[in-house]
Amino acid sequence: MQLSDKKATLSFSDGSSPIEFPVYQGTIGPDVIDIRKLYGQSGMFTYDPGFLSTASCESGITYIDGDEGQLLYRGYPIDQLAQKCDFMDISYLILNGDLPDANQKKEFDSLVTHHTMVNEQLHFFLRGFRRDAHPMAVLTGLVGALAAFYHDSTDITNAHHRHVSAIRLIAKMPTLVAMAYKYSQGQPFIYPQNDLSYTGNFLRMMFATPCEEYKVNEVVERALDRIFILHADHEQNASTSTVRLCGSSGTNPFAAIASGVACLWGPAHGGANEACLQMLEELQANGGVAKVGEFMEKVKDKNSGVRLMGFGHRVYKNYDPRAKLMQETCKEVLAALGLENDPLFKLAMELERIALEDPYFVDRKLYPNVDFYSGIVQRAIGIPTSLFTAIFALARTVGWIAQWNEMLSDPDYKIGRPRQLYVGSEVRDIAGR
Ligand code: ACO
Repeated sequence: MQLSDKKATLSFSDGSSPIEFPVYQGTIGPDVIDIRKLYGQSGMFTYDPGFLSTASCESGITYIDGDEGQLLYRGYPIDQLAQKCDFMDISYLILNGDLPDANQKKEFDSLVTHHTMVNEQLHFFLRGFRRDAHPMAVLTGLVGALAAFYHDSTDITNAHHRHVSAIRLIAKMPTLVAMAYKYSQGQPFIYPQNDLSYTGNFLRMMFATPCEEYKVNEVVERALDRIFILHADHEQNASTSTVRLCGSSGTNPFAAIASGVACLWGPAHGGANEACLQMLEELQANGGVAKVGEFMEKVKDKNSGVRLMGFGHRVYKNYDPRAKLMQETCKEVLAALGLENDPLFKLAMELERIALEDPYFVDRKLYPNVDFYSGIVQRAIGIPTSLFTAIFALARTVGWIAQWNEMLSDPDYKIGRPRQLYVGSEVRDIAGR
């Protein structure tokens, strides 16, 4: 963080003295006004529900330019990363700041691969859930429970513990997600297989049975790997901020990441991919493309409570660059699996076409986000809708853990503790008792 020559001055209409604040510059993107001394000097707080104008930390991991539709991980544009790297490269990059060379990649792959098994006792823990439990409920519980199974990596002041817990979380998430799926199907858990890639191994744990050989389909593997890459980190979004806030109390990494999983579940965040596919399926069942116009009228009617899921974003006021890449992958997967005429894909294309021309969406700068197409890809691969957000959580774990680590290494790090504008009762006495 670099001090700028500029300063910001806050003046008051009641004649009290103005207050001057330092301004800091980042590498790219908006400057920030440092208001940390505001309360001490004025007795006032700032008010910014939803953090529309608040930078909660400094970070060197991900950069988004919402107006340009640009996303960078450690400085590299997402389209280059999606085309030239796999998810293990991206995980290494996000955790360590640079892409790995061939040796570093080999070591990292091996390290993650050799942490993919989970403590056998976790199987019993999982069996306590109902078979029809939502996978995100199961995952929130399983991830939090890891703290009870891996005590030897919960000391956050110990760099080795932090590293081991990061690797454990990245390595075990696919195993846990696949276990949650297998349990819901009443099928036996499939153990990891070390000669497969991170994503190939996940596909096998999801779809293999002990009864026959499972061969990983390369197109499907690449598509899912791309989904992982595109979801790996996204700056200070709701779940990442939750992980930071939760972790700021000094809690262990497994508890902090479980809080991120819980936050991601909501339909305004990671749950949007599930909600988006449900929307497409409902629309298809109620008339499909012929009814798109009618549906869009409902979306635009504020009293209907209907939103076009997979559209709009707090930061992107342009096409989400991940949505473009996802659309490309969607076409590739549907072609490879002989599903080119998939009615939901056609429906999605038609919704997108109308929305991109309609003044309601144009004026509000509402564009497709990553979830608009990722659901169609996952459905084509055979992943059930209820598991979509768990797949997102699997991919985002590396981002959460890198952001948590970055926070703990920041000398300015403090427990997160926002204030409020109190609008409740004034002091009063209990009468008549
Ligand atoms: N459909 C219809 N109208 C919308 C949509 C939508 N999907 N999104 C925003 N709007 C409208 C709002 O009604 C509002 O209109 P107004 O100015 O007339 O009141 C305007 O656009 C601004 O919307 P806000 O809700 O104020 O924007 P905010 O930044 O708070 O919300 C959000 C962003 C939550 C993503 C929103 O666009 C949304 O609900 N989208 C659908 C859910 C979704 O796809 N979420 C995934 C986000 S990406 C991710 O987490 C991976």
